[in-house]
Amino acid sequence: MPDTTPSSYQPALDSRPAPAATAGPTPEQLTLRRRFPTSLDLRARARRRLPKFSFEYLDGGAGADTGINRNWASLDAVEMMPRYGNVVAPPPTDIELFGRSYSAPVGISPIGGPGTAFPGAETYLARAAQAARVPYTLGVLSAITIEEAAELAPDVIWLQLYRFARNEHKIGLDLVRRAEAAGIRTLMLTCDTPVRTTRPRETKSGIVNPFRLTNRLRLDAMTSLPWMMSLMRNGIPRFVNLRPYMDGGQSLAEAAAFMRREQGGAFTWDEIARYRDHWKGPLVLKGVLHPADAERAVSLGVDGLVVTNHGGRQIDALPASIDSLPAIAAQVGGRASIILDSGVRSGVDVARAVALGADAAFAGKAFLWSLGALGSRGPAHMIDLFKQDLSATLGQLGCHTVADLRSVKVRHPGAYGLDDFADDP
Ligand SMILES: Cc1cc2nc3c(=O)[nH]c(=O)nc-3n(C[C@H](O)[C@H](O)[C@H](O)COP(=O)(O)O)c2cc1C
Repeated sequence: MPDTTPSSYQPALDSRPAPAATAGPTPEQLTLRRRFPTSLDLRARARRRLPKFSFEYLDGGAGADTGINRNWASLDAVEMMPRYGNVVAPPPTDIELFGRSYSAPVGISPIGGPGTAFPGAETYLARAAQAARVPYTLGVLSAITIEEAAELAPDVIWLQLYRFARNEHKIGLDLVRRAEAAGIRTLMLTCDTPVRTTRPRETKSGIVNPFRLTNRLRLDAMTSLPWMMSLMRNGIPRFVNLRPYMDGGQSLAEAAAFMRREQGGAFTWDEIARYRDHWKGPLVLKGVLHPADAERAVSLGVDGLVVTNHGGRQIDALPASIDSLPAIAAQVGGRASIILDSGVRSGVDVARAVALGADAAFAGKAFLWSLGALGSRGPAHMIDLFKQDLSATLGQLGCHTVADLRSVKVRHPGAYGLDDFADDP
């Protein structure tokens, strides 16, 4: 079994006085914590409340959900050894990432078309992230513009881009220019969707590609009062960021034709280098599982990596991202910030990721479950659960700060080590 003990492992945690976490919970937080104490409680309620197609879109994975289950099982298998006698109050969860301070090493992963999951999702996610001071990654395929998102979440907004390669990346590079003008500091390029794959649950629910509101979906939507109310409040979701580049009409059919023409594939290394030249702020590459890819990204000047298998949504044979993390941390740790996503459901999972070398952990589905379960109040509750659980985990393990997690002894049975890649360039 590879040695997965982080290189900074110290045999004993020190006995500094523990700084306590700030401000107690509000009455609303206490009620929600009692009714929905975990993200899986939110998932169960979302399943009951959302139209079927919407839940299947946000919750379903590739194949038979094997990749999703592997993400969960691999995180669950990671044990952390506690040390007692030095913590007497729940520790704070604050961190710094790319020169900004955040209230926890937890962020919201980019979601394309989150309005299908819950209309208005982007607005609710952006507001909650700004209020709680955690990163919110706006997906380029969103129903609010870059400029609107930057206004809603000026201190925490990041932007994720897919590849718009026609005409020498005219659209992609204009989106980058707009992001900079709007004050967005961190840009994320997704490289792990080179081809379109199938998610059977989504297909069986009646969702067609390109998306169309068929009669079947309309009938399904009408079974969910919360979803319909949010649709009426927020309007039909459209990819508004792309409007300036669409000539003429913006019907669903025209938008679909535009997407087929303009968007596709995933960023190549040459293209990543090109975006690096254009983007002066922190640049993050999302979709790294192999340490050689991590090395290549860093050699091109990428500042951060998202170690992810796209939440088990591409194919279900990819390694769990938590199992790839130790080798990537060993390869590029200290030279790039590392974010772990895929399967993160709790503060304990966040702690596991940080203990194994990540600087933060992001979640996608957990935030969508929260919207499905609680509507606009959901994301704030999900962030609260992550932070509360992380603080409790730190205290239980004998950590005074998030950084102390790197000194925790970890057992990680599924981990890849660098040795596993010795014969693999
Ligand atoms: C409904 C849905 C849509 C997504 N859309 C995007 C997207 O547009 N761009 C992207 O880079 N990742 C996208 N992802 C992947 C997430 O950013 C993230 O990698 C994944 O959700 C993490 O796994 P988790 O859902 O288990 O937390 C999407 C995920 C979901 C669930």
